[in-house]
Amino acid sequence: MKKDDEFFVMVVYNTNSESTAFSWMTKEQTACKTMEYLFTQCEDIACRSVAPMQDTPANRITYEAKVTVPNGFVVKMSANETNMEVVGNKTTFYFENKIAMPSYLIAMAIGDLEYRSLGERTGVITEPCRIDAVADELVELPDFLDKAEAYLTPYIWGNYTILILPPSFPMGGMENPLLTFASPTIITGDKSQVDVAIHEIAHSWTGNEITCENWSNFWLNEGFTVFEERKVSAQLHDEDFSKVNAFIGNISATSDMLGYGIGNNYSSLYPLVENNFPDDSFSTVPYEKGFQLLYYMETELLGADNMQKLLRQYITKFSLTSVNYMDFKGEFEAFVDATYEAAEATTIKGKMDWETWVKSPGLAPVFLDFTTPALNESSDLADQYITLAGASSPSNFEDFKGWYSSLQVIMLTQLNTRKEDVNPTIMAKIDADLNVTNTLDPECKNVWFQLGIRAGYEVVVEPAHTFISSMGRMKYLKPIYQALMDTNQLDLAKKWYQENVNFYHPYAVAALYKMLYGGDMATQMIQ
Ligand code: BES
Ligand code: ZN
Repeated sequence: MKKDDEFFVMVVYNTNSESTAFSWMTKEQTACKTMEYLFTQCEDIACRSVAPMQDTPANRITYEAKVTVPNGFVVKMSANETNMEVVGNKTTFYFENKIAMPSYLIAMAIGDLEYRSLGERTGVITEPCRIDAVADELVELPDFLDKAEAYLTPYIWGNYTILILPPSFPMGGMENPLLTFASPTIITGDKSQVDVAIHEIAHSWTGNEITCENWSNFWLNEGFTVFEERKVSAQLHDEDFSKVNAFIGNISATSDMLGYGIGNNYSSLYPLVENNFPDDSFSTVPYEKGFQLLYYMETELLGADNMQKLLRQYITKFSLTSVNYMDFKGEFEAFVDATYEAAEATTIKGKMDWETWVKSPGLAPVFLDFTTPALNESSDLADQYITLAGASSPSNFEDFKGWYSSLQVIMLTQLNTRKEDVNPTIMAKIDADLNVTNTLDPECKNVWFQLGIRAGYEVVVEPAHTFISSMGRMKYLKPIYQALMDTNQLDLAKKWYQENVNFYHPYAVAALYKMLYGGDMATQMIQ
């Protein structure tokens, strides 16, 4: 062989049952309890436990896979299925993904899986006993995809399918191309949580078509996606709907920053994750502060039409590449120069303080007002309940029942913000009026149960216990365990955790173990 000769390397390898990305489940751990189940979760750096590779989002790869399973099991991957053959009691599925993508988007699910088409290019997959409920909830999927595409550029992946996982899936959603994964907590029966699907659809452009080149630039995936998600949901509802979500998002991001320390590097849009596990820097900061940067750009600098043009231009230019924020900055400046006359262009560029927005920790450098009249009413209802101290009900309390999920969450979040002023009498009054303890909405449960635990409202304890034993989404598990810890109920928290430790996903186990017992668990190490 000579210098510069091309050659192929074949790597033969085995993984083992401890591979971080794989979750092996018994029948009992699934929704319908008919067959065992296996699924992967590779983002951010677990694909290296699936196959030896340069597991960085800077690399884009195509892949082919051949997966052999006992007859009856169905295999799905984030790729097109090209063939299937049965030999004896084994079935082999063949897959091919020809669009170069980052390794963290490789995904596989195996189990008792049924597909149902919802329109020409969209569909859902789940276990058979849940397929009707899932198809009903996500019946508007074709419209979500059409709207995202209409706002952005043509959809490049062909089909779009959502697979609803068993209850222990630790995320809300994961944007694997051709096979978004989502938690069954988004299937509530009232379509209140379908925004998660819109978010994952929007990743088809920002995340999958264009990818952050390293985890310090993660906000280019998530912040852009939240921005696009809110553009689509504003069309499905109204502008205020998106503002309300932005308001809730800002509360979460502020609270996450306070958790890290407001001056901590992880409270910036550019976490320096170099020698650390990137998961440690995972929070709502890249989502919400990233969203706010784009929202500022749209509302204060460019206007909605030009913002849309800029996003389309950015996606077209960087299609199928991995980028950092300087690429976006360059595109923004080129766009401004080409769109405005020189003096105005200079002013606009001068108003965009990239260094502070991206590198400085803490709240966005510009105050953005997301309040809406409905939001104020909702927050006001909470204040009234506190003022009335359980003696009577606010005159407009029935309004709550007609509010969409995020508006209800605003009211409950306001109670939570003022938790020192909330007591069991007030919570009992709210329950008598609004029956929040028995809500089906997981976002409401999430806020109400942690508040109840903190306020000593015993009524929520068993429902909270049932909730954290029925699903494994970390967003909902952590606050409840945290509330127990903060109220000196560590023993109860450990009891609930131990009861569910075989049910929870290994990622949730690692995170909760760290919270409850301190220190890392051996299984958290990347295998
Ligand atoms: N890509 C993320 C999930 C993720 C992030 C996995 C980091 C591993 C590491 C996905 O798109 C996401 O953001 N999911 C959210 C829901 C969304 C509606 C904000 C989640 O799981 O909560
Ligand atoms: Zn996302």
